[in-house]
Amino acid sequence: MFNFLKKSAQKKEITFNYESIMVDMHSHVLPGIDDGAQTTQESIALIRKMMGLGIKKIIATPHIMADYYKNTPETINNALEILKAELISKEINIVVEAAAEHYFDETFEPRIEDRKLMIMGDNYALFEFSFINKPPNATKALGKMNDMGYKPILAHPERYPYMDIEQLRSLKEHGCSLQLNTISLTGYYGKEVKKRAENLINNELIDFISSDMHHLRHAEAFENALRTPYLEKLLFDYPLKNSLLM
Ligand SMILES: [Fe+2]
Repeated sequence: MFNFLKKSAQKKEITFNYESIMVDMHSHVLPGIDDGAQTTQESIALIRKMMGLGIKKIIATPHIMADYYKNTPETINNALEILKAELISKEINIVVEAAAEHYFDETFEPRIEDRKLMIMGDNYALFEFSFINKPPNATKALGKMNDMGYKPILAHPERYPYMDIEQLRSLKEHGCSLQLNTISLTGYYGKEVKKRAENLINNELIDFISSDMHHLRHAEAFENALRTPYLEKLLFDYPLKNSLLM
């Protein structure tokens, strides 16, 4: 009886890693410019963890938010250069690029019109909605992005409680890709988010997966996600697009 309990409490063995996707395309590993890594030491610790789990390239995506994180291409590229110098000095061999996670606020549409979005790969632009309030005119903004030649990617669709699966499917029909945080599959953000993540996978609506890594607790959850059957399904039986960004 006690042996049985002990065994069930043991963690499932990890038998695969993230090497098939190659690229982690949503993270906050640039030092000191948002709520992610605050120092280059913290950045390096997160990067080493990702490399250990099979990631070959990291696209850092600091927040651009009018109220909290007033980042610009200059602040982001400066932080990228500081991090790259540190990687070279420590002889850590990994490609790190920078784009942004654009917040859907009143500055977002003007940024689209001014062609000021920070992109990854072939004109992909990552953006996020509020976790609380449904955004007005999302499809209008998506139309504008498409008109300007951007390929929109919505970050963590599983984390917006006010959006159901049909609304997310409709965003996809308006040319928007969907990016799941793999740590959602561990229950890191709660049971509801986990359920929504699994539902999105069951409905084959996910295009990209990533860590959204801010700190070491996320790094640990990113590893634990490798014990979930849904991540196994995503990595081995699903047409993910991450490698397009290699
Ligand atoms: Fe993020």
